[in-house]
Amino acid sequence: MRRGSILQLIGLGTVAAVITTLVAVLVPWLPEDASRESGRIHFVYWFTTVIAIAVFSVVAAVLAYSVIHFRARPDDESDGPPTHGHTTLEIVWTAIPAILVTAISIVSAVVLAQNSHAGSDPLVVKVKAQQFAWNFTYPNGKSYGFLTLPKDRHVKLDITAVDVIHSFWVPQFSQKQDAVPGQHNTIVVTPTRLGTFPVICTELCGLGHALMRSHVDVVSPAKFAAFMKGGGTAGPPGLAVFQQNGCGSCHTFTPAAASGKIGPDLDNLKSLAAKANRGPLDKFILESIVDPAAYIAPGYQDLMPHIFKTQIPPDQLQQLVQYLSQGAK
Ligand code: CUA
Repeated sequence: MRRGSILQLIGLGTVAAVITTLVAVLVPWLPEDASRESGRIHFVYWFTTVIAIAVFSVVAAVLAYSVIHFRARPDDESDGPPTHGHTTLEIVWTAIPAILVTAISIVSAVVLAQNSHAGSDPLVVKVKAQQFAWNFTYPNGKSYGFLTLPKDRHVKLDITAVDVIHSFWVPQFSQKQDAVPGQHNTIVVTPTRLGTFPVICTELCGLGHALMRSHVDVVSPAKFAAFMKGGGTAGPPGLAVFQQNGCGSCHTFTPAAASGKIGPDLDNLKSLAAKANRGPLDKFILESIVDPAAYIAPGYQDLMPHIFKTQIPPDQLQQLVQYLSQGAK
C-alpha cells in the first residue's frame, strides 16, 4: 500500500472520529447521575461508546476511501477483478470484535455485581405499585406517596405490585425494575446527589399509566433522621390515608394539593353527590371508595380499583371519608 493511501485513510478515519466524538460529548444523551450505581452504569455506556466510535471510524474511513478511489467511471462496463478470500484479514476482523464484545461483557458483569451489593446495613424501603400510584413504606412502618432517601447510604428497594405489572424508574438513578404482583424484585440505590428527581412508571399499566408519577427527595442524613422521626409532616390523619393510597394520582383535591385528571374532581364532591342522589354526603363518599361501581359519575368509566375495601382498614376509611367531606365544596 502506498504511503499516500495510508495517510488518506488515517485522515478520513480522524474526521469520522472527531465528528462522532463531538456528537457523543456535546449532546446530553444521559441524565445527570445521582447515585453510585448510575455512575457505574454511565461508565459502561461510555466504555461501549468509545469502542463504537473507534469501530465506526475505521469502517467509515475504508468505505469513504473505496468510494473515492474504486468507483466505476460512467463508461466502464467491464467486470471487476476476481478476488479470493484473505485469511489473515478475516482472522483479524473476527478476532477484534470478539475481543471487544468480551471486554464489554466483562465490564457489564463487574458493574452488575457491584450494583447489587447492598453493604451490611442497607435501609430497606418497600415499594408498592398500584393503578396508578406509588407507595413507599419505611422500616418504622410509616408509608408515603413519595420517596425520601438519605444521601450516601445503601438503600435496598423491595418492589412489588398489587394489581398489574408496573415498572419503577428514576432516570437519574439509571436503574429500572419491574413491579410484579406476587414478586419482590430489588434494586440497590446509593444516592450521591441532593435534590428532587421524578419516579416514573415505565410499564403500560392502564389508562393512568402516563400519570403514574411520584418523586424522590434525596436529603442529608440529618434531615433524613428528622424525617424518620416524623417531624414536620403534620396534617389531618385523612390526608395521610389519601396520600398512602394514591388517590391524588387520579383525582383532583385542592386541600391535598392533588391534581389527578382520571377520575371525578373531588373538589366538586358536594355537587357530584347531589347529582348522584344516593343519600348523605358521607355515605356517598364511603360507597364510592369501597364499591366504586355502585354509581359511576356521568362521563366516567368503571376504572377505579376495587381494592380499597380490603386495602384500607375501617378506622382509616373513616378518617378518609371525614377528610374528603370536610374539604369538599
Ligand atoms: Cu403503572 Cu404504568
